[in-house]
Amino acid sequence: MVELRDPNFKRINSLELASLFIEQSVKELREKIKDEKVILALSGGVDSNVVAALLNKAIGKNLICIHVNHGLLRKDESKEVIENFRDKLGLNLIYLEVEDYFLNKLEGVSDPEEKRKIIGHEFINCFVEEAKKLDGIKYLAQGTIYPDITESKGIKAHHNVGGLPSKLNFELIEPIRLLYKDEVRMIGKALGLSDNLVYRQPFPGPGLAVRCPGSITRERLEIVRETDAILREEFQKCGLSEKVWQYFTIVPEYRTVGVKNNKRTYLYFVVIRAVNSVDATTATVEEIPYDILFKIRDRMLDEIEGINRVLVDITPKPTGTIEWE
Ligand code: XMP
Repeated sequence: MVELRDPNFKRINSLELASLFIEQSVKELREKIKDEKVILALSGGVDSNVVAALLNKAIGKNLICIHVNHGLLRKDESKEVIENFRDKLGLNLIYLEVEDYFLNKLEGVSDPEEKRKIIGHEFINCFVEEAKKLDGIKYLAQGTIYPDITESKGIKAHHNVGGLPSKLNFELIEPIRLLYKDEVRMIGKALGLSDNLVYRQPFPGPGLAVRCPGSITRERLEIVRETDAILREEFQKCGLSEKVWQYFTIVPEYRTVGVKNNKRTYLYFVVIRAVNSVDATTATVEEIPYDILFKIRDRMLDEIEGINRVLVDITPKPTGTIEWE
């Protein structure tokens, strides 16, 4: 049975209301958890960031976070999680570096749903194995938000941490389960998290794997990661990062002929995708000015080995989905 939001529940649209929610939530969490321990999978996404900060306020060292770096994260993402949560907030954070393990499991797998299943399954395995090593854990916290429980997602096998509760004998704690995304962001701000942690683009659970269509190789994954970093940097510089809902690069498993220094090349190409949406069920394409596109193209072609073309995806959703897989 899905728990529905009380119609009288006031939309949290100010820092004052967010502070009230935090106060109430911290009180309830302390009453419920007492001196018990809680674990949380901290991905670096807005929802888990906010849950981590909220629980840290409520129970401090009794919260244990596990950050699984499956090698499919954006450039510097794990570093930022560690800096912000372990170094700055002093959180109890276990960092799992399992890139090789994941890339081995994914080697030669090109079917999109198969890739998603492997990543989801292995993510849960890694988390569960690590959780089993810890003694005295009673609760598992999750960053489930309201649309996660009210929207059905039938198009792709979505991978969050949905399979975790059934694999672990922990009681579930979902402190933001009745909130919408904008409210979660407001709570994050009121908790003092930096904008960088609160205003993040949506990022799929299977990460860069879905932006590396076909079977994943380290080479293409690295091109996706580096071109994504250039795109983000340039969008930041020209203010588009505040305007555009989601933007990223894709590097398909396909090479084309090009020329460099008078020599033939046979290399991959990069696709830029920038879309606007409210709830991800439909999306429109952002019109990126050509001068900005040219600057991004020049940087990508100059700085990244292994590519000889840059393309722009102008497909709305429908008919395309936002991600390519
Ligand atoms: P699509 O590609 O289906 O994506 O139009 C809609 C939105 O969802 C994100 N996405 C995911 N998010 N787990 C997630 O948490 C996933 O498995 C997943 N797949 C896609 C996507 O980035 C877009 O914002």
